[in-house]
Amino acid sequence: MPKVLILSGAGISAESGISTFRGGDGLWENHNIQEICTAGCLDTNAEATKKFYDARRADIKDKEPNHAHKTIVELKQRFPHAISVLTQNVDDLFEKAGMQRDEIVHLHGFLRELRCRECAMVLDIAYGAQDALTYKRCPSCHGELRPNIVFFGEAAPEYEKLIHALNECDLIVVIGTSGNVLDVTYFAQLSEYSILNNLEPSDAIDDRYFTKVYYSKATEAIDSIAEYIEEFLKE
Ligand code: APR
Repeated sequence: MPKVLILSGAGISAESGISTFRGGDGLWENHNIQEICTAGCLDTNAEATKKFYDARRADIKDKEPNHAHKTIVELKQRFPHAISVLTQNVDDLFEKAGMQRDEIVHLHGFLRELRCRECAMVLDIAYGAQDALTYKRCPSCHGELRPNIVFFGEAAPEYEKLIHALNECDLIVVIGTSGNVLDVTYFAQLSEYSILNNLEPSDAIDDRYFTKVYYSKATEAIDSIAEYIEEFLKE
């Protein structure tokens, strides 16, 4: 059976009320990435970094998955071995839509989790603030805890799974990413077929390399995209 890689970015969560990064009122427009999301910020700017991720974790508590998340979860449940779902997003909307944590790859980390800086133990703390925990340090080795988020300049171990998925996919579906961090134009050339869905063209993406392009909201494009995937997998 052919293999499908569905790769998403902040745009897929925009209609659920979670800010994207580079849109007009994007998250990075109001924050200095250097201070709260770059390697070393935990040492040079620990409190502001912790507070930033506490606020983002609290922000996703009441957010609900939209039709695009739900459709992708349904596809994954129908074709568990043919479809890989990888996201750059750190929110839990796919999980709220029914995806199991081990059925999806969060390439840039997961807001609900903290990670021990010593033993790398991962703790799901849901939506609370880090300092509100009854324990202040790693319950296993007493090491310092940090957000389980990949900061700019840090290693992104889950990229190994992205490379594996890219090497085996016959169709790549890219939804809601500007391509500023992951070179989705290059990824499209690794796959025989490719679909791009964004709100508008991105300076970082050459959409001529995609088989099909949808410039519309993900919740509006997803039904056609799902139909294409189903036909593709039934061949
Ligand atoms: N439907 C579909 N696409 C949308 C929607 C929507 N409703 N709203 C916005 N988009 C698209 C925009 O057109 C844009 O191309 O989502 C994309 C969002 O781009 P960015 O804000 O750059 O987010 P993303 O590409 O996910 O950022 C990648 O950069 O800051 C780091 O680690 C962070 O994972 C993030 C990475």
